[in-house]
Amino acid sequence: MNKEDTRDLRDALGSFPTGVTVVTSKDRDDNPIGFTANSFTSVSLNPQLILICIDKASFNIQSFSAGEHFAVSVLSENQHHISTIFASPEMDRFNNIRWESKITGSPIIADSVAWFDCDKDQFIDAGDHFILIGKVRGFDSNSQKPLVYLRGNYVNLGLEQKMLLAMENKSTKILVGALIEWRKKIFLLEDKTTGLLYFPTATRLGVINDDQSLLGKLHDLKISVSEHYLFSVFENSNDKTSLIYYRTKVEDGSSVSVGQFYEFDTIPFDLLIDDASRIMLKRYIAERELNAFGIFVGKESEGKVEAITKPNDIV
Ligand SMILES: Cc1cc2nc3c(=O)[nH]c(=O)nc-3n(C[C@H](O)[C@H](O)[C@H](O)COP(=O)(O)O)c2cc1C
Repeated sequence: MNKEDTRDLRDALGSFPTGVTVVTSKDRDDNPIGFTANSFTSVSLNPQLILICIDKASFNIQSFSAGEHFAVSVLSENQHHISTIFASPEMDRFNNIRWESKITGSPIIADSVAWFDCDKDQFIDAGDHFILIGKVRGFDSNSQKPLVYLRGNYVNLGLEQKMLLAMENKSTKILVGALIEWRKKIFLLEDKTTGLLYFPTATRLGVINDDQSLLGKLHDLKISVSEHYLFSVFENSNDKTSLIYYRTKVEDGSSVSVGQFYEFDTIPFDLLIDDASRIMLKRYIAERELNAFGIFVGKESEGKVEAITKPNDIV
């Protein structure tokens, strides 16, 4: 299979929505280990069996193949950041994470929606992964909303409604902005008086022949956008503005008439116009590395972010 076929297969597989789990165990020295997995599946009720698939290239593959136990914690929609931590390389993943042992000693992530504490039942060779089948020794669940993963995006079912309500509120001013990427560079406009950098914005998303809309303004800047995903929604409590940001990747950014594309590692963050833009752009770059984007609702001042659902439905 060539690279393009692999990409297409990934895309096709990504159209199947899943939950997000953290799979944990202990290594030889009794240190907690774990990684983010969405390959979790129920297998059998009698006996009680579940499975996850683990990449043979996983850093912890030895521990999972030699270990006798493991646990699966199903993440809630408020635990998007935990998914990112357990999918990021070279990180002390359990630092600042609350967890406890239940039956087998494998870490159970606190406040997860459900957990399954397992004895290893089978470890099956399957292509570039191993299938890890676990016999459930203990489990529990609660009524929190689970985090959902679809097409490389985290989906938060609970906040979609909140977001739509905010948009229906007539006293709220809406500003729509764009994070535009071209070849690992981000597009920013510069205020010629102050030298500060900002993202393009407009009062509506619109269409390309509406020059007051975001898509119209981008068209005027010679930026051609074919698809866009909702990335972030910030509320500015001072002037009751809701800022709705989309992310998009463009094929060709070489002919922009105003503004500039900045390489990820040379962005002058201190020149960004406000903290909200800084927080958002830093998160964009971190998630870009993982190719796992969240969609966020929050308050600008707190920089607090939570995910909401289905990017391109919200216009
Ligand atoms: C939403 C999501 C789901 C993932 N599912 C799996 C999975 O099922 N199996 C797997 O081996 N890796 C999966 N990964 C990738 C691992 O979490 C990631 O490669 C991690 O860095 C592996 O850690 P390790 O090499 O320290 O074991 C997933 C990542 C994300 C963001």
